[in-house]
Amino acid sequence: MPKLLLAIESTCDETAAAVIGRDLTILSSIVSSQSDLHEQYGGVVPEIAARAHVERILPVIESAMSEAGVNLTDLSAIAVATHPGLVGSLLVGVTAAKTLALILDLPLIAIDHVQAHLYACQMSSAKNVFPAVGLVVSGGHTNLYDCRDALEMPLLGSTIDDAAGEAFDKVAAILGLTYPGGPSIQKAADDGNADAFDFPKAFYHQSRLAFSFSGLKTAVLYEVKGQPGAHQQPPEMNSKRLADVAASFEKAVVDVIVRKCEQALKQLGYNSLCVGGGVAANRRLRHDLKSMCTERKTQLVIAPMEYCTDNAAMGAIAWESYDRQLFASLDIDVTPGLVR
Ligand code: KG4
Ligand code: ZN
Repeated sequence: MPKLLLAIESTCDETAAAVIGRDLTILSSIVSSQSDLHEQYGGVVPEIAARAHVERILPVIESAMSEAGVNLTDLSAIAVATHPGLVGSLLVGVTAAKTLALILDLPLIAIDHVQAHLYACQMSSAKNVFPAVGLVVSGGHTNLYDCRDALEMPLLGSTIDDAAGEAFDKVAAILGLTYPGGPSIQKAADDGNADAFDFPKAFYHQSRLAFSFSGLKTAVLYEVKGQPGAHQQPPEMNSKRLADVAASFEKAVVDVIVRKCEQALKQLGYNSLCVGGGVAANRRLRHDLKSMCTERKTQLVIAPMEYCTDNAAMGAIAWESYDRQLFASLDIDVTPGLVR
């Protein structure tokens, strides 16, 4: 039997486990999403997320093992995302992983969740995708990386306030659309005019590799609900106006992300761009990144749809640590913030 590892993911609001072969074959990938629990709040509630992980972690691991058709004794390592994420959520996956590693006497491997999002690009590609500029756009992150190889990815820049996915979720709430906001805004934007509103694109005209979406969110809020103290109220919301706001908002986010990727490619002189994270599922973003990369003769690798949002299969990155004997000790702690 080929070598197998069990990867566990619980950084935010998905409880996930996967059994992965040494050749990066995914024998199983189970994801239990909590979005129904957080929907009414318009965003992830950390305490609810942690409790749900506690309830789901063992059934999810059991499903991953049985779907793969293997036993715990067939495993060579246990891997788990230890950072970054919500502290209560991280602790559940990490505690489960430590316990399994201890009782099975297996090496424990710590996964950087953001690096794993980018490694999802390598999993879908026959050739080496690194070195590359790496973009991770999710509900918690909007980061650009200098991906020198699978485990060496210095951060080039990130958001100074909201993450892109967070902006999608908050703007969806303003527009009365369902959570998670990305897919519902994308759907609403289908019938809209993306040039109807000229929403702000922070840092667009600067070379600085940074993002900011809170001003954009406020601009949408004022457009929809009116500016505090203003005499004139905004026009009545109807489906046409809603579609135009959604499309213009989506365009503002996408334009700025594509621009920053292009600037990073230029600054580093790379001709490969890897993209991961939930927002990478966005159709306009995928289309516009493709146009930019075609024009620049740059290879674009976007993680497969099922591995864009949080999952444990992207924990295949743990094999890179395994090969380099980079094992974690059983007293490893979780780290909520980005590890630079
Ligand atoms: O990577 P992910 O599953 O979880 C985090 O680690 O955050 O990303 C979830 C985020 C949510 O904010 C969601 O609104 C966004 O990804 N998202 C999208 C789309 N699908 C999911 N954003 C824009 N367009 C989409 N089609
Ligand atoms: Zn993520």
